Amino acid sequence: MKFNTNKLEGVIVTPIFEDENYNNGLLEYTKGKKLFKGKLNEIFVNLPYNGEKEILIGLGKRDELKEDQVREVFFKLVKVLAKNKEFEVQVTLPKVENIHTEKLVNAAVEGALHATYKFDKYKSDRKDFPEITINLTTEEQLENIEEVVSEACDIIGGVFFARDLVNERAEYLYPETLANIASKELTALGVEVEVYDEKQCEELGLKGLLAVGRASDRKPRFIVMKYLNNPEESEVVGLVGKGVTYDTGGYSIKQTANSMDIMHCDMGGAGTVIGTMKLIATRKLKTNVIAIVGACENMISGGSYKPGDVISTLSGKTVEVANTDAEGRITLADSVYYATEKLKVNKVIDLATLTGACLVALAEFYTGAVTNNQEFYNELNKAAKEAGERVWQMPADDSFRELNKSSVADVKNTGGRLGGTITAGLFIENFVANNVPWIHLDIAGTAYLSKAEKYLPKGATGVHVKTLYNLLNK
Ligand code: BES
Ligand code: MG
Ligand code: ZN
Repeated sequence: MKFNTNKLEGVIVTPIFEDENYNNGLLEYTKGKKLFKGKLNEIFVNLPYNGEKEILIGLGKRDELKEDQVREVFFKLVKVLAKNKEFEVQVTLPKVENIHTEKLVNAAVEGALHATYKFDKYKSDRKDFPEITINLTTEEQLENIEEVVSEACDIIGGVFFARDLVNERAEYLYPETLANIASKELTALGVEVEVYDEKQCEELGLKGLLAVGRASDRKPRFIVMKYLNNPEESEVVGLVGKGVTYDTGGYSIKQTANSMDIMHCDMGGAGTVIGTMKLIATRKLKTNVIAIVGACENMISGGSYKPGDVISTLSGKTVEVANTDAEGRITLADSVYYATEKLKVNKVIDLATLTGACLVALAEFYTGAVTNNQEFYNELNKAAKEAGERVWQMPADDSFRELNKSSVADVKNTGGRLGGTITAGLFIENFVANNVPWIHLDIAGTAYLSKAEKYLPKGATGVHVKTLYNLLNK
């Protein structure tokens, strides 16, 4: 897709607000016939073979328009263009009181780009999405419009990179290959990437990660990515992603109904943090971030960890393995402790496809959050809202902490079925050293969709790449 900000060529796309008057013949005609009113997401396509081509796009009520709705409208527009084989349009974005024109441009470009995503590398009859040119201008003059467009393109680049990682099948994407991709892509952008193999993980003491990963022929990797680009600031933010490249459940094996077949998505957290690192390094953000992924496969073999085992972790705390399918939190325990104790990050966010319970509570629409610091959470929530990525904070108090207690070890890796998202989050809290501000994001529902939703495709979404970018871009 191409964007020009200084040309008026191609099919005219006219944004229309509902119940407003315009001097527009096509609009009069469609209103008369009740074909188009300007309601949100309405599109009317007029493409005569010998007359002037024009497309009307409905934006609803002017003072009710939200950024995220602009994404959806432009997503739809581009789908319509592709279907009609119209490859060049011109559109002038209106001035809207509630949305700064910069944000409007950002949303339009993001929405348009979202429409081009495909994961079809395994299809023999795949075709490239057609090259579409959008000549984009604004009613209110924007000095930096080109910069705004190119930033939106970079953001979507980070999101698509995350999606490709998460959509990739476990046959090809496993700890070693994930580490190789992260190294190759991020090193090129100036990120320092360290990869620890199984033996080095033992030296580091990552006993939790190793226990979960030990049944697989594809051995764990511990991936540490450092982007330190603000020497004037001492604060370092830690990002931890769950990197279970395949989750069979282990001996507490998943039933088919529990959709084992999509469990290549269980490194969704890793996809998001690696995508975010790519984005912030591409944009050269002035910030300090260390991202960590403990990558492993949760498999079954003669050497697997078993229900009832007691294992140790990097922190020294012991864990009763009540259920081998609650593996993510064990791997995260080591990564979060490594970030907060060994690397001394000042704040930490972990992202994980952690619990089916999160889908029960929030469907595929909201990410579930648990935190030990309300102020930090509020900041993140603001960044998420701006990104159009919905997050919902869970209650988390001692009643829930009680459920993780073990009679044989320091903690147990499941707190039972009830409140499963919360107890999973609070399990991780035990491994946050120095009481640093911490947010846990359960993306089990939002990282990988069973069906397309608004401008998001079925499959991997790259959720929260943009949230984290917004948070770090200050
Ligand atoms: N990877 C799963 C969670 C998951 C479910 C991710 C659906 C994406 C979609 C996780 O490791 C898991 O199996 N969790 C268990 C925890 C339980 C045993 C306490 C679950 O949710 O069933
Ligand atoms: Mg599991
Ligand atoms: Zn899992």
